[in-house]
Amino acid sequence: MLVLGIESSCDETAAAVVRDGRSMLSNVISSQINVHKKYGGVVPELASRKHIEAVVPVIEQALDDAGVKLGDIQGIAVTRGPGLIGSLLVGLSMAKGIAFARKIPLVGVNHLEGHVAAVYLSGDIPEFPFVALVVSGGHTNIYLTESLQSFRTLGQTRDDAAGEAFDKAAKLLGIGYPGGVIIDKLAEKGDPSLIPFPRSMKDSLDFSFSGLKTSLLNYLRRREAPVTGEEMPHVVAGYQEAIVDVLVEKTLRAAEMNGIRRIVVAGGVAANSRLRDRFRKEGGKRGMRIFIPPVVLCTDNAAMIAVVGNDLLSRGGRDGFDLNAVSRWPLDSVGSC
Ligand code: KG4
Ligand code: ZN
Repeated sequence: MLVLGIESSCDETAAAVVRDGRSMLSNVISSQINVHKKYGGVVPELASRKHIEAVVPVIEQALDDAGVKLGDIQGIAVTRGPGLIGSLLVGLSMAKGIAFARKIPLVGVNHLEGHVAAVYLSGDIPEFPFVALVVSGGHTNIYLTESLQSFRTLGQTRDDAAGEAFDKAAKLLGIGYPGGVIIDKLAEKGDPSLIPFPRSMKDSLDFSFSGLKTSLLNYLRRREAPVTGEEMPHVVAGYQEAIVDVLVEKTLRAAEMNGIRRIVVAGGVAANSRLRDRFRKEGGKRGMRIFIPPVVLCTDNAAMIAVVGNDLLSRGGRDGFDLNAVSRWPLDSVGSC
C-alpha cells in the first residue's frame, strides 16, 4: 500500500511517501528553525502560519521525489497529536482535503508512536516485545512495547523532557537554538568528567531534569567570569553526560527488570551522538540489542507517521472527517483516544 504521511505537530512541516510501511520513497522536511531562532523557542502562532505556507509545496515535493502522482496514493496518515493544536490543524485539514477529494482512507496517528515506528524504516527491525525510550522536546518516556498498539509506561519524566533540558541549557549558556544539536557538536571537543553535574532519581525509572538545569544556573552564578570559548565544550560535555547517563542507565535497567533484551531508542534526542554511542557500548556489554533509527528519522518527519498509518490502514483502521487534533495523547492509550 502506498501511504502519504503528513506531519505538522511542532515546527517542522513534513510529508513522505512510504510503500508497505517499510520502504521510504520520499521524506521531505521543511524546518522553521530560522523563524523561531530569534525567540529562543517555538512561537505557536508563527508555527501555524508557516505550516499553512509550506504544507502544499512540501506534499508536492514528496510526491515528486517519490515519482508518484496523488492518484497513486492509497491512504493518508496524519499526525493527530500530541503537539501544538494550531500546527496540527494545518496538517489535519490538508489530509482531510486530499482524502475527501481522492476518496481514499484517512487515519490520525500518534506522534510518539511514529517516533518508535521510525525504526521500521531502518532495515534492522526488532521483534516484539521491546523496551522503547522516546526522548524528544516534549517527552521522555520508557515503554514496554508488545505491539505497535500496545505501550505500557515503565518510566517518565516528572518535569522537563530531555530535549527541553538541552534546549534550556543552550539558552542559559547563550550558545544558540535549537540547543540539542549545538551541544552535541560542542561536547565532542569537551571532557565530560571535568565539570560534574548531578544525576537525579537514581532509584526510580522516572526522570527529573529540572534540578540539572538549576545546577547549571547555580554553576554559572558561582563563577566570577563568563564561560570562555575554551571552557564551553567541557561545560556542555559535563551537562550532556548527566542527561545521557540517566537515559542509558534507566532504559537498560527497565529492560533487565522486564527480562527483555531488545531496546529501541527514538525521538529527536536519539539523534545525539553521545547517547547513540553509549547505548551501543553499554547495551552491548549487558547483552542487549540496541535499535536506533538513522538521525534523519529520529527528529520529526512524516515517514514515521506513514509507517504507523500503513499498520492502522492495513488492519482496517479508518478515521472520519470529524477527526480532531489533540494536544495531549499518552502513548499507553493509543487506540482508545
Ligand atoms: O522529536 P523532535 O524532533 O520534536 C519533538 O517531538 O519534540 O525532538 C526535538 C528535540 C529538541 O529538544 C532538540 O534539541 C532535540 O530533540 N535534539 C537533540 C539533538 N537533535 C535534536 N538533542 C540532543 N542532541 C541532538 N543531536
Ligand atoms: Zn517529535
